[in-house]
Amino acid sequence: MSTPAATVVAEACRSVGNDATRLLDVAREVQSRLGCVPPDAIDAIHRTLGVPRVDVQGLVSFYSFLSETPQGRIVIRLCDDVVDRLAGYERVARAFSEELGVEMGETTADGAITLAHTPCIGMSDQAPAALVNDVVVTHLTPDRAREVVRDLRRHLDPAQLVTMVGDGNNSHPLVRSMVRNNIRAAGPIVITETNRGEAIRKAAAMSPNEVIRAVKTARLRGRGGAGFPTGIKWEMTRSAPGERKVVVCNADEGEPGTFKDRVLLTELPDRVFAGMTIAGYAIGATEGILYLRGEYAYLRRFLEHVLEARRADGLLGRGILARHRFDFDIRIQMGAGAYVCGEETALLSSCEGLRGDPRNRPPFPAQRGYLGRPTVVNNVETLACVTRILEAGPATFSEHGSRQSAGTKLISVSGDVGRPGVYEVPFGIKIGDVLAMSEGKDAVAIQIGGPSGRRIDPADFERTICYDDIATGGALVVFGPGRNPIEIAHMYMEFFEDESCGYCTPCRVGNVLLRRGLERILAGRGEPRDLVQLEEIARTMKAASRCGLGQTSSNPVLTTLAAFRPLYDSLVKDDPRGFRRSFDLQAAVGDAERIRAGGRQ
Ligand SMILES: Cc1cc2nc3c(=O)[nH]c(=O)nc-3n(C[C@H](O)[C@H](O)[C@H](O)COP(=O)(O)O)c2cc1C
Ligand code: SF4
Ligand code: FES
Repeated sequence: MSTPAATVVAEACRSVGNDATRLLDVAREVQSRLGCVPPDAIDAIHRTLGVPRVDVQGLVSFYSFLSETPQGRIVIRLCDDVVDRLAGYERVARAFSEELGVEMGETTADGAITLAHTPCIGMSDQAPAALVNDVVVTHLTPDRAREVVRDLRRHLDPAQLVTMVGDGNNSHPLVRSMVRNNIRAAGPIVITETNRGEAIRKAAAMSPNEVIRAVKTARLRGRGGAGFPTGIKWEMTRSAPGERKVVVCNADEGEPGTFKDRVLLTELPDRVFAGMTIAGYAIGATEGILYLRGEYAYLRRFLEHVLEARRADGLLGRGILARHRFDFDIRIQMGAGAYVCGEETALLSSCEGLRGDPRNRPPFPAQRGYLGRPTVVNNVETLACVTRILEAGPATFSEHGSRQSAGTKLISVSGDVGRPGVYEVPFGIKIGDVLAMSEGKDAVAIQIGGPSGRRIDPADFERTICYDDIATGGALVVFGPGRNPIEIAHMYMEFFEDESCGYCTPCRVGNVLLRRGLERILAGRGEPRDLVQLEEIARTMKAASRCGLGQTSSNPVLTTLAAFRPLYDSLVKDDPRGFRRSFDLQAAVGDAERIRAGGRQ
């Protein structure tokens, strides 16, 4: 007789046609039905899909939403990122912990509820926030946390926690979420009314090369952070050898403080899917993948419904607009909680059902991407811009912004501001103007572009957001008076330590060492030579890490060392006897062993 695990695995594998490249979907399904992916399920997956057991186990240990050991039927994942800490995380965490009678990371004795912390879940504009299974709970207070636990104990049904739905499509029956869009400034380019079929019709009336030319004429650059010219990326993929080509939309949005893609997917999914379809037409792809971060699972049924409606209307599938040989379809690939999967090569590994390990480049995705096929990876906002360029024409798009930075940019503003939310602004806007719009008048610093981005101080509030000055994927976290920059840098280093995939030593070990160094300094145990060492480690990581995560994760240390040297100096003192006050031989040996083994402490 089959064990329950074997039955669940057999059904999960069957639902993806026993396709080994869908291993991540299988593991997610098993996790959701069994509360974990236990060793006998790992064995069964290995046998059914023919994937080496070690790879199945490696995948389960990689993604934070998967676990080999049992979790509660309900998992409360409370965001512990910087913005949530500014908004009262500690008190909310304590309330959860007291009401449940467990510490962070533990499960109640009856096995019903697990309490865990998690990095940014894309709700920084309504922090503190948590995921209760797939249900998002926002604006938490200690009282609300206790109420959530009492309600869950009564009905064990996260969906019933949603008693009031948010605005726009958050109230759609297939979403039914308390999330609010918080769109504070909209238009004239991205957040505007859209006609579902217009852009595709216009694209189909042009040749693929003409479509690419239109995107180039608009001077569109990628909105995911790096700012690579979209038309050039498409051209490279189109001309790469290979029959089958692929379009991937990067909706991983894991950069702490970023949530604008969430809003686009909620309110303008048609514009994003049209952008993917146009990209497919331009590069000659028939296959599209929306990589949706696991934290946005609450949007999945709605997005599937939008895709279905597009198929029914002849805007997706075979023979789009009844045109012979215009075939393109999109599937949704769910992530499972791993920030590094936003990096495009890690994202492709994840789409192939592997651990989200970044790959060496070259070859670039445009040459060899998903399953070795030439692949375009674009951000959600980039693809929404593409649709608008086709709808309104390249000139309308590029008349906003500047020569190097055409169009508008969506900015996610959070932290110490009166009006957190999404702002569509023209490129070239002054940071001070964004602060004024978002009521961040007491700001003493801004973290722009996420933890690995840069810290901007009041002297630079006159500077502008654009590729020629301060480029950003769109996160702007504002800090008011009284926030300790070194404590903030320390929180960011905790984040990177957790999110490093561990593949290369400079990143795996360096993030731990930087976090520890800051900890020592904050505890008053630092010495002047620690500052020199921090700087050396940070520079080594930049030079020797394999992917963008390790190459930039030391920025919180480097930027605060540059901007707040007097503060650092005041915290580190030389011991007159020449002893290293912080040195603890026992701890140092144990630490070195653990770091070498790749563990986190
Ligand atoms: C650690 C890391 C995380 C990233 N996360 C994201 C992300 O969540 N979304 C995104 O669009 N790009 C992200 N990127 C950038 C992607 O690698 C890639 O440049 C982008 O998706 C390309 O799309 P674009 O040209 O439209 O900007 C990340 C990069 C790194 C190094
Ligand atoms: S730099 Fe960090 S995240 Fe990137 S491959 Fe190396 S260990 Fe992994
Ligand atoms: S949801 Fe907590 S920082 Fe984004």
